[in-house]
This record gives sequence, structure tokens and C-alpha cells, in this order.
Amino acid sequence: MARSDAATDLNKTVSYRGLRGWLEQVDKLGELERVSGANWDVEMGAVTHMLTEKSHGTAPAILFDGVPGYPQGYRTLYGQLSSIRRIALTLGLPLDYERKVDIVQRYHARMAELKPLKPRFVNDGPVFENVIEGDAIDVLKFPVPRHHEQDKARFIGTACAVVTKDPDDGWFNLGAYRSQVYDGKTVGCQITEGKHGRIHRDKYFARGEPMKVVILCGQDPLLFMLSSSPLPEVSEYDIAGGLRGEPIDVVRGPFTGFPIPADCEIAIEGETVPGQTRPEGPFGEWMGYYSDDTQDRPYVNVKTILHRNDPILTCAPQHKPVDETGLLKGIAGASQIWRALDACGIPEVLGVWNHEAGPATRFTTIQIRQRYPGHARQALHVACACQGGAYAGKWTVVVDDDIDAGDLDQVLWAMCTRFDPKVDIDLVQKAWASKRDPLFLPGNFNNRILIDACIPYDMKLKNTFPPTVDVSADLRAKLRAKFPKLFH
Ligand SMILES: Cc1cc2nc3c(=O)[nH]c(=O)nc-3n(C[C@H](O)[C@H](O)[C@H](O)COP(=O)(O)O)c2cc1C
Repeated sequence: MARSDAATDLNKTVSYRGLRGWLEQVDKLGELERVSGANWDVEMGAVTHMLTEKSHGTAPAILFDGVPGYPQGYRTLYGQLSSIRRIALTLGLPLDYERKVDIVQRYHARMAELKPLKPRFVNDGPVFENVIEGDAIDVLKFPVPRHHEQDKARFIGTACAVVTKDPDDGWFNLGAYRSQVYDGKTVGCQITEGKHGRIHRDKYFARGEPMKVVILCGQDPLLFMLSSSPLPEVSEYDIAGGLRGEPIDVVRGPFTGFPIPADCEIAIEGETVPGQTRPEGPFGEWMGYYSDDTQDRPYVNVKTILHRNDPILTCAPQHKPVDETGLLKGIAGASQIWRALDACGIPEVLGVWNHEAGPATRFTTIQIRQRYPGHARQALHVACACQGGAYAGKWTVVVDDDIDAGDLDQVLWAMCTRFDPKVDIDLVQKAWASKRDPLFLPGNFNNRILIDACIPYDMKLKNTFPPTVDVSADLRAKLRAKFPKLFH
């Protein structure tokens, strides 16, 4: 897509307001499924898994109500961002695209022009409809699910946004970090090495200080999407404000003083204390395995619960692909990789896609128009090493301009016909890994592979690579016009 096309929607902003406004619009799109009577114990997670696994990006968002043992209206929402249209709605982008990579291109162009807007403090908001402190605190007043059959606990935070404050610079990060329930007043907060919330916590703990946190577990899907994105050190609140074209209204948390979205469904305030740990996990993980061993990890002592009437707990368990978070993580990461390729001056990038079954960031394809010898290899190394592509990557593949990076069939064809295993591979060793990877190396590193599946540049120059067997654009157009019923 030409840059000018993308520029035309740079002024568009997010049209809905808050989770409830988002649900109304999703309902109008016909992408909301309502389910009554599913149990919190594995049924909601399994229903979502079954509806998503073979859906190829068409699974609905699922709003569960009438959860046995809980009041009517105490709802959970799964699968918020498992369709491209819902992701586009969330980001304020056009809803429909010819190729999957086009939404990444639009998002990337939008972010490149973005002017962050700081949140706006207000005195009141629906999140203050219920303020629970002291003995009354009980996070299990919500229908908190046990998501997978082999999980040992219920997890209140999955599609969540954990707000932490940098003790040096005072900026607020939002990260989606899972939160296990130990009891009504104690929850976990698993933050992986290198993530912003973890860097904040390490700084506090190094000084022997506790760290305050707010766990938002029912919020605008835009905040959830940004919280799960590998963004630089800029508050996700400011980026969300920029994308909306209007600041996020926030109230001040009674315990933390942190900004909390005024229309948020559920916010849990608390603190983690150095030296206080509990066994955390096991939990069905994003790589599709129970690969994350149970470990002693810091936990959160809950001090306040704020929630709206008839609250909606947002959930996003992960599992064997394709899961309900594959698209959102893929698009979020791909736009950051594109940003890095641009920032490093790599020319003629036409597409970036993280394949959903990868899962997410483990199989990245970059599509370029080759301009010089070494161009393809340059793109591979930047994509694999930049912040958006570095965490837990495995395969990075570069393809030519005639291969749609988002179409796995075409990518495999390029890998099978334009790639020589002896010269078109680079290996990167001791890279940033995840212990969720069943094959992580001692010291928590991983090795990864870069695949140059472009036509060798000298053959391209000399025009010695054989022509492709395809139907030309002209003949396609002619036949579509001649046989409209065949190609409607
Ligand atoms: C549903 C979901 C659950 C996640 N759970 C965790 C988690 O438990 N711990 C973690 O460190 N990252 C988790 N992530 C990934 C982070 O949210 C992601 O790496 C994000 O970039 C972190 O934000 P940060 O870059 O501001 O630290 C999860 C992502 C999603 C989509």
C-alpha cells in the first residue's frame, strides 16, 4: 500500500469510548456472542478455546453472564481481539483490508505520526461505584476463572493491564502480566525479565522498598492491546490518548495515587514487598505448553478493590495455537518491528507479519523490494534484534515483493524455492528468551534462525531466475468481468 493511502486515515481516531462503548459497536458488527450458564471452573476458557482454534481470525468476542454461584450481571469477556475487524475498531483504523499485513502498515503509519496525550485527572467516575477496603476485600467476589484443565489456580489477571511507576523517572507503565489468585486478599503478578514492570520492580527491590501496583482487569481493549505491546518507555496511557485524539480520563487510586481509568470495570490496588514470595503457576502458557515451571515469585497484597456495578472481568488465557491472543500480539509486535526497520533506514519494506500459529512473535516474515546485495540480510538482522522482535523469537524470514508476508502458503513456497540451506541461513545465539519456551537454554537464552527466502540478488539483476507460473493481473480482471458469478 502506498504511503499516501495510509496517510489519509492518520487523522481518524478511536470512535468508541471505554469497554462498554466497544461492546456496543462489536455487537453491531455481529461479532459478539453471549453465553449464559458457563461455569468459572474451566468451562469459559474451554468454550473460548474451542470457538477460536480453527476460526482463522473470525472468532467472536464472548461475553459470559449467569455464571453459576455469581450474581447476574457479574460478567467475563473473552476473545476481545481475535478478529482483525475488532483490532481495527480498537485502534481506530479502517475495518477491512485486502491483505492481513495492510492493518500492520496502517497501524505502523499511525504510530509513526502519533502525538502522545497525557491522561486527564478527574474527581469521579463509574469505577468508584464500589470501593472495597479492609476486611471486605475479596477478589473472588468476581467470577474469576480457572482457565485450563491443568491450571492449579484461578487467575484474575490475564487480559489485564498492570500499572507500575518508575521510581526514578515517575512514568507509569501498563503491562499485561498474569495474576493468580491465592486467596481473596492476595494475588500474584508474574513479570518476565526485561519487561518494563519487572525493571520497575527490580529497581524498588534493589532499594529494599515495596512496589505499589494497580491491576486493571476490565478496561478499554485499547489499553489491553497497548499493555501487551512491546512499546518503548512511554506510558501506554499517553499512547492511548494519542490514538483516541483525546486524553484518557483517570481518577487517583485511593491507596496508590496512581492514575486509574475512570470508566474501568475493575481495578485492584496493592503492593509487592521485597522478600515476600509464593509458588506461582502452573498456568497454560502462550507457547501452548505447561512449560513455565512453578516458581516462588513476588505477590501482591491487595489494599483496595474498585469496581463498577455489574462489572466485566476481561480474560485472555493462552493455549496451543491458534489462540485468542495470536492476532493481537502478532499485529502489535509486527508494527514495532516495522518501526525499527524504518528507524534503521532499511528501504522498501512492504509488509511485516507475525504468523498466528508461531505463536505470535516466533515466526516473523518481512516482505521487501530488494534494491541491493545484502538488503535482505540487513532486514533479517534488524527485525530479529529490535525490541519488537527480540523477545523469544525463533524464525525470521525475508521474502520478495511478490510474496504476501501474511500468507503462509506463499511464504512456504518462497522458503521451498528461493532458499538454499547452505548460504541463506544465519544463526543468532544467546538471544533474549522466554522460559515459556520448552527449549530455552541454560541461563535463559535461546538460539534462533534467520531465513533469506528472497531470489538471490544477482539472479534478480540478471533476470536469470525463472518466471513464475501465475495468472496475470490483466487476465484476472478480464475473467472477473466476464464471469462475475464465479468470482463474487
Ligand atoms: C494475554 C497476555 C498475557 C500475558 N502475560 C504475561 C505475563 O504473565 N508476564 C509477562 O511478563 N508478560 C506477559 N505478557 C506479555 C506482555 O504483556 C508483553 O510482553 C508486553 O510488551 C509487556 O509490556 P512492557 O513491554 O511494558 O513490559 C502477556 C501478554 C498477553 C497478550
